[in-house]
Order: sequence, then C-alpha cells, then structure tokens
Amino acid sequence: MMSIVYNFCNVFTTGFSVMRLFILFITIAISFSVVSNATNNAADVINERKNFFKKSQQDIKGLYASIRSGNLDEIKTYSMSLAEWAAVMPEYFPEGSGGGLSDALEKIWEDFHGFKKAAKKFELAALSVVEAANLSDKDAIMAAASTVGDSCKSCHRKFKN
Ligand code: HEC
Repeated sequence: MMSIVYNFCNVFTTGFSVMRLFILFITIAISFSVVSNATNNAADVINERKNFFKKSQQDIKGLYASIRSGNLDEIKTYSMSLAEWAAVMPEYFPEGSGGGLSDALEKIWEDFHGFKKAAKKFELAALSVVEAANLSDKDAIMAAASTVGDSCKSCHRKFKN
C-alpha cells in the first residue's frame, strides 16, 4: 500500500515537473518568437523602405528624362509614382526602426510631425508636376520638378545620416 501511494506520488510529481518543463518550454518558445518577430519586422520595414527609396531614385531619373524628351504621359506616371510613395512614407518609419542597417536619424521620431511635413512637401511637389503636365506647361513642369528634387535633399539633410 505504501509503495502504491509512493508510486502514485512519484508519477504525480514527475508528471507535474514534465508539465512544468513543457510550460516553460512553450513560454520560452513564445517569447523567443515574439522577440525574433520584432527584430524581423524592424529589419523588414528598413528593407522595404530602402527599396521604395531606390525606386523613387529611378522614378526621379525617369521624370527628368521624360521632361527632356517632352513625354507628358511619362512625366505624369513618374510623378504619380513619387506622390504615392510620399503619401505612405511615414508609415514605413515605425518608432524604433532606426539604427543598425538604417541611415534614419533618431530625429525622425523626436520630431515625427516635422518628418511627416517633409514627406507632405515631397508629395505636394510631385503632384504639382502632374498639374503642370496636365497644362502642358513646360516651364511649370521644370520648376515643379526641381521642387521635388529639393524636397528629397532637404529631408535628407534633416533626417538622414
Ligand atoms: C521625408 C523625408 C524624405 C524625403 C522627402 C526623401 N527621403 Fe530619401 N531617405 C529618407 C530617409 C530617412 C532615408 C534613410 C532610410 C533608412 O536607411 O532607413 C532615406 C534614404 C534614401 C535612399 C537610400 C536608400 C538605401 O538603399 O539605403 C535613397 C536613394 C533616397 N532616400 C532617395 C530619395 C529621393 C530620390 C527622394 C525624392 C524623390 C527622397 N529620397 C525623398 C528620407 C527622405
């Protein structure tokens, strides 16, 4: 009888500690995946925005080339693509996504309002190229395109390494 009780207790305590180990394991697994997700997300968003920035550089080259060749449709396509990126850019700068592989300055999050204003300036400049293209006004197109270039540079000076 004593040994049955003893065995029962033994099974119970062993079972209990296996259970605890299991819970501990699950807890570690979950917290590990949460941490690695957070790191992956930060790295992902940096890569995503860098790709958008690279594309915007191609777009602005395309814009200048289409101004030289006088292709209004292309001018509008490149400017719209720039304006669309400008409109979502701040969403690609979640808090804490600086440092490491990123050239984003901490100032972005210290002055997110200012950063959003700089993105808005870029968006409006790109849209003003579309407007000028709709009017087929070459001088206005050139003037507007140069404000787009200025908006890139002035944001970089303030918010980028
Ligand atoms: C509102 C601010 C802002 C505007 C406007 C802006 N940029 Fe940037 N840009 C940044 C920041 C911040 C980074 C750094 C991103 C990072 O490394 O995480 C960057 C990075 C870049 C990069 C480097 C990408 C890489 O591979 O590391 C290029 C190229 C670039 N921008 C081009 C442009 C061009 C072209 C324009 C205008 C058509 C523009 N940017 C407008 C803020 C801006």
